[in-house]
Amino acid sequence: MCGIVGYVGDSEALPILLSSLERLEYRGYDSAGVALIENGEIFVQKEVGKIRELVKSLWGKSSKAHCGIGHTRWATHGVPSFENAHPHLDPSKSFAIVHNGIIENYKELKEELINQGHIFTSQTDTEVIVHLISKYYEGDLLEAVRKTIELLKGAFAFAVITKYEPDRIIGVKQGSPLVIGVGENENFLASDIPAILPYTKQIIVLDDKEIVDITKSSISIYDFDGMIKTKHSMFVPWDIVSAEKSGYKHFMLKEIYEQPRVISDTVRGFLSEGISFPFDIKAINRIVMSACGSSYNASLIGKYLIERYAKIPVEVGYASEQRYEDIPIDENTLFIAISQSGETADTRFAAQYAKDNGAKLLSIVNVVGSSLDRESDYTLYTHAGPEIGVAATKTFTAQIAVLYGLAAFMGYERGSMTYEEYSNKIDKLAHIPSKIEDFLQNTDLNGGVYSELSSAKNAIYLGRGLSFPIALEGALKLKEISYIHAEGYAAGEMKHGPIALIDENMPVVFIAPKDKLYEKAISNIEEVLARKAKLIVIGNASDQHLKDISKHFIGIPDLDEEDLYPILSVVPLQLIAYEVANRLGLDVDQPRNLAKTVTVE
Ligand code: F6R
Repeated sequence: MCGIVGYVGDSEALPILLSSLERLEYRGYDSAGVALIENGEIFVQKEVGKIRELVKSLWGKSSKAHCGIGHTRWATHGVPSFENAHPHLDPSKSFAIVHNGIIENYKELKEELINQGHIFTSQTDTEVIVHLISKYYEGDLLEAVRKTIELLKGAFAFAVITKYEPDRIIGVKQGSPLVIGVGENENFLASDIPAILPYTKQIIVLDDKEIVDITKSSISIYDFDGMIKTKHSMFVPWDIVSAEKSGYKHFMLKEIYEQPRVISDTVRGFLSEGISFPFDIKAINRIVMSACGSSYNASLIGKYLIERYAKIPVEVGYASEQRYEDIPIDENTLFIAISQSGETADTRFAAQYAKDNGAKLLSIVNVVGSSLDRESDYTLYTHAGPEIGVAATKTFTAQIAVLYGLAAFMGYERGSMTYEEYSNKIDKLAHIPSKIEDFLQNTDLNGGVYSELSSAKNAIYLGRGLSFPIALEGALKLKEISYIHAEGYAAGEMKHGPIALIDENMPVVFIAPKDKLYEKAISNIEEVLARKAKLIVIGNASDQHLKDISKHFIGIPDLDEEDLYPILSVVPLQLIAYEVANRLGLDVDQPRNLAKTVTVE
């Protein structure tokens, strides 16, 4: 999704803006640009394509500007083009804006402005905002922004500068993320913390309906009614190394290899922070879980575990669907929203619907201080650090770890598990990092798997029970980064339709660990073999039978807690997707059309 950066301070703004934009690349984008205030005028440079194109086009430019804004655009209104790229200017070229989100009523506003004689140069909703700001400007940028936002509907964040006030940036947050970096004789603005991490670790996270007025030596925050707000900065412990590749070819690969540490940190965080629900968990009679993409797949695992351990009925839904369903929700419903970024618009809206209807809202998020974190009654954190690769990997396994701990804790609190049983479960979870490490260090995934899949047009992923969501996740990983069509199915469902697709050309990836549905999985594997599919199996390394019958076999370590196999069995699927995309020469970390943080509906 679009990314915003802003800088005002003693240093030269251009290199800071460009390097901050590079750290927003992972959010996904199709064009990029910067606007600087130089010699009393606004200078704009933008390019379609990658930031390196923008950097190339600025080669040799020496800029003494100390204030500017920058943008990575992920097209929503209007195709990716030079005209539609940000920053956008007003007709007098006195104001420049960068924007993330959607102005829902831009058509009406644009029509009105056209009738008043305004000429537009792009198809974007953004241009409307900067026209309005210039229209309302009477010597105070803050006032002009205030008047403008009264007219805007939608979820958005933007930053605006004017040549008339060359040391000032005004930022607005309403629905899309925006953070302020606090420096000495300099301040920063960005959509996301990693963008400005090399410059400061003191961060103020803006809430919805807040406006920030930034100069090099001051930060003033107001609500939309103009009331000043006192907000304190927080120290972000992430180091920049965690947002860099550290010698790995891609962020995704680094993040796959980080999983043992991430799960340890998540378990440690879980144990040290503990769980103390700000509501009576015994009064909850129904749980609704809501998420998108990989987080949705993790929720499915959460459903199995919570129902098993805590005996509460759980419904799982895609957030984008749930927000338009009339799902029955009341004060005895616990709504669990799962989101790595904590900014996914669909998940936030579904959670808001649940809250409005009286549900208790518990979130599982990775980004501390994200919108969902702040909007929830209670948050559990996955301590995965920044995830830069667009494909979720370490945050997915961290989500499963938290859900497993949460399910066991609920079981204990509701009396369906003893304290010993609960702590035994947590002990088992604490052993998982060494098992993943063992797999990562000792498994040489054979090249045959990669060539099998990289030459395929389609692939099927199958699993039963807790391995079914892992089949969905494996297929999602493959399709999103390698563009090979892949579908995940519950293996028992195969004979109700998908089996028609299976022939000797179809690669079938089967996840079959030694759990309680193992025998059932073996029967389904026989069905696949009978159709002569190219069978790739993820099973226990000790499972000689599976090894013998599969074309390709990937062994994972044995576990004495079968409910934890999903954390382990997804790792080879992540590696497969990574290596197939890598061999196909694709942009693994920033696959086409995808954004890391989906802040629009
Ligand atoms: C897949 C992926 C996406 C996200 C989805 C939800 O690899 O990354 O499917 O899982 O967009 O994002 P969050 O978890 O930030 O709400």
